[in-house]
Amino acid sequence: MDEGSPAVDPAALLEQARGALDAAYVPYSEYTVGAAVLTEDGSVFTGCNIENANYSNSLHAEEVAVGSAVRAGHRSIVGVAVSSGARDGVTPCGMCRQTLAEFGDEDIPVYCDEGDGEWTEHRLGELIPDTITPEMLGVDPTERAAGDDAAGE
Ligand code: THU
Ligand code: ZN
Repeated sequence: MDEGSPAVDPAALLEQARGALDAAYVPYSEYTVGAAVLTEDGSVFTGCNIENANYSNSLHAEEVAVGSAVRAGHRSIVGVAVSSGARDGVTPCGMCRQTLAEFGDEDIPVYCDEGDGEWTEHRLGELIPDTITPEMLGVDPTERAAGDDAAGE
């Protein structure tokens, strides 16, 4: 994590993730997931899973939280919390780990709710040690400001 990043309060971030559970739209799996991402300036964005009758269009809670943060102009995530509301060892799936790695360094904490005020703590780089990176594509995303048209340069 960069110097100057906000301190991450695991209990508070998990509470925010839990707060998104009620909004989950899960008629098919009936498995609610809430996620919260903390951005560099201390803001928190949450998401819930949103399922679809075609199944494959279902959005994961982490995707919705990241999307909300990026929509608000944030491109640096410094902490993540995930909850299913149950004591079941919920954890971001492989796809979500890659999505989080687009905006978070390998050392950022990922808190997984274990219920009853308990959680497990991981580093993102431990959950996904190898990612597809912008460097592999010869891209420096920081050189592309919001709204830039990469093809129009
Ligand atoms: N789910 C998430 O929201 N995040 C994950 O990373 C794991 C899975 C959702 C997708 C689906 O709506 C439900 O949990 C069961 O897989
Ligand atoms: Zn996922």
